[in-house]
Amino acid sequence: MIDMKKLSHLLILLFILLFLTDNSATAATTGQYGDVILNKNAASMREVGVKDVLFPHTFHRIRFKCKVCHNDIFVMKAGANEINMNVIMEGEMCGKCHNGIIAWEPIECEKCHSMRPGYTGGVVQNAKRK
Ligand code: HEC
Ligand code: HEC
Ligand code: HEC
Repeated sequence: MIDMKKLSHLLILLFILLFLTDNSATAATTGQYGDVILNKNAASMREVGVKDVLFPHTFHRIRFKCKVCHNDIFVMKAGANEINMNVIMEGEMCGKCHNGIIAWEPIECEKCHSMRPGYTGGVVQNAKRK
């Protein structure tokens, strides 16, 4: 005989699994883009002595739905966003989360300004940037 209670539990579990696989399937099919180098303001970064920003896109994509960031916070195009420290400190762009509440505050420069010379692994770089 079929145990209805067990069956309904099984259905709920299946439902959850389907929901999870659906999400990861989306990430898998669109998740071919790697880290993004943010260096539009390369000149000012050199002046201050910080490296270019290596934005770990995949790291964030695993944790948030695309629509959390695109396009309310960031235009979905490499090089299309004007990001700088004032904006971040004012709680916009990266600062929407890196504010000490959702994620750590933008105090430790090297956490974001971490571009290693010669690093190319999975990096999307906008050729037009300088
Ligand atoms: C935490 C915020 C955040 C989340 C979540 C996020 N992105 Fe992005 N995305 C960015 C930022 C920042 C850039 C770089 C924009 C720039 O260069 O000005 C970017 C760039 C892009 C680009 C253009 C560069 C490239 O890789 O070709 C695409 C396409 C993109 N995102 C797609 C996605 C998709 C699809 C998802 C969900 C699976 C997603 N993003 C989730 C922040 C995010
Ligand atoms: C939607 C929220 C959100 C936005 C927007 C966002 N981040 Fe994050 N970021 C997070 C969270 C959450 C973590 C994980 C924090 C932790 O582990 O304590 C994180 C972690 C990181 C890390 C560390 C990754 C690692 O390997 O530990 C870096 C670097 C980073 N973010 C850079 C950026 C930069 C640069 C931007 C803007 C271009 C940005 N983030 C925008 C939420 C966000
Ligand atoms: C949460 C990540 C994050 C942290 C932490 C962070 N930055 Fe930035 N910073 C960025 C991003 C993103 C940009 C924009 C890069 C671009 O596109 O040119 C930027 C740009 C800059 C620029 C050039 C634009 C401007 O505002 O003048 C300087 C200089 C700079 N950062 C210095 C610093 C210093 C110094 C620290 C530490 C006190 C720091 N940053 C910490 C993400 C971060």
